[in-house]
Amino acid sequence: MPNSFESQSAPAPVAKANKTAARDRFESTFTIVRDELFAHFTAHGLPPDAVEWYSRVLDYNVLGGKLNRGVTVIDTVEILKGRPLTDDEYLKASILGWAVEFLQAFFLVADDVMDSSITRRGRPCWYRQDGVGSIAINDALLLEGAIYRLLRTHFRRTPYYSNLLDVFHDVTYQTEMGQLVDLITSPEDRVDLSKFSVERHSLIVIYKTAFYSFYLPVALAMHMCRIPTSPTDKSDSDPYNLSLEILLPLGEYFQIQDDYLDFAGTPEQIGKIGTDIVDNKCSWCINTALAVATPAQRAVLDANYGRKDPECERRVKEVFEAAGLRERYEAYEREAYKRIGALIDDMPEVQAVGGGAVVRKEVFRSSLEKIYLRRK
Ligand code: FPP
Ligand code: MG
Repeated sequence: MPNSFESQSAPAPVAKANKTAARDRFESTFTIVRDELFAHFTAHGLPPDAVEWYSRVLDYNVLGGKLNRGVTVIDTVEILKGRPLTDDEYLKASILGWAVEFLQAFFLVADDVMDSSITRRGRPCWYRQDGVGSIAINDALLLEGAIYRLLRTHFRRTPYYSNLLDVFHDVTYQTEMGQLVDLITSPEDRVDLSKFSVERHSLIVIYKTAFYSFYLPVALAMHMCRIPTSPTDKSDSDPYNLSLEILLPLGEYFQIQDDYLDFAGTPEQIGKIGTDIVDNKCSWCINTALAVATPAQRAVLDANYGRKDPECERRVKEVFEAAGLRERYEAYEREAYKRIGALIDDMPEVQAVGGGAVVRKEVFRSSLEKIYLRRK
């Protein structure tokens, strides 16, 4: 069955070239990060085989993705400053970008173990590499530890160091809360589709994805640009709270894309083999199918969802097709783009937030455009 996304319009060539150039420039700063982390390992007297292992962990897991989260930190700093960055500003923003990419690598290495995934970014998951196995758990934690090394080296003397630490700690904890709810809603041995709901799904995806993928890159850029938090940080006029009002719905939309692509994308296109049906996940697809299924289709879903058997997975996919999931997803995507676009349109062009700092709505528009109609 052709993927309905294939017929959607591709980004304009100039926009695409700019995006590639931004990504390439960001990627070129990876050697700085890598060398620093190796020097630190060596300074601790770690033997060459440990440095070599760490090098493989970094190259395999930090590189090879789309780098959208990292590039968003740099793009946001540039939008907030309203001018091209100095070399020092670019370096600082890119270190924050890499710190986000390390967080993403940490989560994905661990998530693939927990989800028993097979491939990621077009290659076997790290834990499935020869000789890795459960060492992947320690590797994931090393990737997390690297974030705090980078922050310490580059930001310890800045007045906003503690803000950066707070936001990384808060967002990591929120993601782990989301992962917990995701995992306990999809037990391997007890499939009970009545436990799923749109509300449960929304909670899972906002916590496991939206905070770290959408809020974190923007919040880091805002701190680097010295946008102040309100003293209570509960206030409605707090610029960080205001940005959450857009970035959390945006993150929910992004994870619904991930859920849909898990079913409808090909492994070549998305770089991974979808496991949501077999893993009994409370995904957008099953919730949407449950809402419209006939009693006969519901019986097929009850008997086949969450079973580790390719034939069961095929029967579930047949129901998804018959329930019109492809068209329903396209309608959802149009609605989400319009709804989030309207939230952005309703914001003032520029919000002055004290000390000359401003938040521009282009920050949010740029994130929405980055993911609209994505196919991978
Ligand atoms: C991916 O969702 C989920 C995450 C990236 C969040 C994972 C969070 C953790 C693994 C917490 C880690 C904590 C420790 C201590 C190890 P998904 O499975 O829907 O995405 P996918 O389709 O890309 O796999
Ligand atoms: Mg997963």
